[in-house]
Amino acid sequence: MIDLKNIEMIYDDNGTKINALKVKDLKVEDGEKVAFIGSSGCGKTTLFNLISGMITPTKGNVIVEDIDITTLKENERDLFRANHIGYIFQDFNLFPDFTVLQNVVLPMSFSKRYEKGEMEKEAIAMIKRVGLEKKLDQKVKTLSGGEKQRVAIARSIVNKPNIILADEPTGNLDYKNGAKIMELILQIAKEEKATLLVITHNNSQLDMFDRSINIEELNEAIK
Ligand SMILES: Nc1ncnc2c1ncn2[C@@H]1O[C@H](COP(=O)(O)OP(=O)(O)O)[C@@H](O)[C@H]1O
Ligand SMILES: [Mg+2]
Repeated sequence: MIDLKNIEMIYDDNGTKINALKVKDLKVEDGEKVAFIGSSGCGKTTLFNLISGMITPTKGNVIVEDIDITTLKENERDLFRANHIGYIFQDFNLFPDFTVLQNVVLPMSFSKRYEKGEMEKEAIAMIKRVGLEKKLDQKVKTLSGGEKQRVAIARSIVNKPNIILADEPTGNLDYKNGAKIMELILQIAKEEKATLLVITHNNSQLDMFDRSINIEELNEAIK
């Protein structure tokens, strides 16, 4: 379960305080598929960065699978993220000069799940699942947007996360490719029995989820 309690995130931008997020209570049960909506700047990415432990809140607790990640040291949070969270970014966050296979293998070395010899085999299996087996040794910079997002999906699941976060995964894709990518993410989350949290602006996709949460309404910092 994901359980956020009395969260406040105040950024410090060269001395200027930015009240980005204030949420009293937010719970997501194991296996739920939840869409997060709300206009630009309302705190959606901040929320995902808190859940993944990329940032720590100014106040409050972030409890993920019974661990209060706000109490962890940075290296412990990095290990927690590698083992529990698959993060799919809007802008892919891939290494353009690395091949598809190299990009997918990379996060495997951060978790302690695999022996060195197993990594490549497992990575290839994941790349097959997203339909890119013919592009294994191709550099990521030569791929289309939809293909890059498939690499990002494969990379996000190599460490068998219980939680998949996808931040506007179809934001940079055309309608048809966007729909395909969203279907693939939902299918993979189902197969992996993972909890799935997706930020989306596409209202036509909302009925694919168990529920949707509007961060603009939940966020007391912007009321
Ligand atoms: N690293 C940061 N430093 C300062 N302000 C930030 C930082 N990241 C986000 N913000 C601010 O926090 C607010 C919420 O941003 P964000 O979570 O990215 O919103 P969304 O993803 O909903 O568009 C915005 O006002 C944004 O400018
Ligand atoms: Mg955002």
